[in-house]
Amino acid sequence: MANDSIQLDSQGRLKHFLTIEHLPKSLLTAILDNAERFTVVGDRAVKKVPLLRGKTVVNLFFEPSTRTRTTFELAAKRLSADVMNLNIEASAAKKGESLADTLRTLEAMQTDMFVVRHHESGAPEFIARQVGPEVSVINAGDGRHAHPTQAMLDMFTIRRYKRDFTRLKVAIVGDVAHSRVARSEIHALTTLGVPEIRVVGPKTLLPRGIEAMGVDVHHSLETGLEGVDVVMMLRLQQERMQSALLPSGHEYFHTFGLTPARLRRAKPDAIVMHPGPINRGVEIDSAVADGKQSVILQQVTHGIAVRMAVMSMAMGTAAQAS
Ligand code: CP
Repeated sequence: MANDSIQLDSQGRLKHFLTIEHLPKSLLTAILDNAERFTVVGDRAVKKVPLLRGKTVVNLFFEPSTRTRTTFELAAKRLSADVMNLNIEASAAKKGESLADTLRTLEAMQTDMFVVRHHESGAPEFIARQVGPEVSVINAGDGRHAHPTQAMLDMFTIRRYKRDFTRLKVAIVGDVAHSRVARSEIHALTTLGVPEIRVVGPKTLLPRGIEAMGVDVHHSLETGLEGVDVVMMLRLQQERMQSALLPSGHEYFHTFGLTPARLRRAKPDAIVMHPGPINRGVEIDSAVADGKQSVILQQVTHGIAVRMAVMSMAMGTAAQAS
């Protein structure tokens, strides 16, 4: 999978954003600091800056998405780029055109950036290796591998509420086994200095050997939430489960659903996060999802500024260091 040699140029500047893994803390911090500057754009009457004026961004989503696709589109528009959303269902991919040929065709339209979501792990890196030297590729979620902009908008949200990463206890709860978000979160939290990261879930939904990523494993939600500052809930990824790993959604909620009573195990000022889409009554109670500790909708809003930061850095029009 991707490493610095493809993600960064010879001067260590962001070129493609494919995974958090191997990226230095200084670069993650620069993304957060740039995003901080971009949040004010959303509060203006004219929500635009000219940093990507004249650039063409193509959204290539081979999997469904609400939050990621729309916030990437908004981010690109707020940076003044021209944006095209390829409708995969109505594209020549449905007639058997290969990914490489689809890509060459779109590149021939002088595309400057591809934002890619794909069900195959590694598809964005494959694309990054095919495109010309001036073109950037941003991973919008690939298979079970990575969802780096989701992780960064979550880091942005945590920093907004908790300020100092080096004092936090964070619990990631649920279907870690099928989650690209969880992997990217663990890399980001580790790089930014979070001293205690817990993964919480039934044995069937935690990958074997996850401890090697430096996390503590809990199979009880009650003990896993004890004293944490941040609760990151994950969606049950039913579409990625090859066999029935759980008796039912109802049964799952009974043991691993986040209810107000269970949330009281966390610190009183703990925040509750979820990348969405949420399954109410499966991994989270509506009283928590809509409650005062929930920052789920703030995560969505922060996604625009964070994606503006990543896109402008990859195009070389925003600062690469804080
Ligand atoms: N968090 C996330 O990736 O949501 P979407 O699938 O709606 O983009």
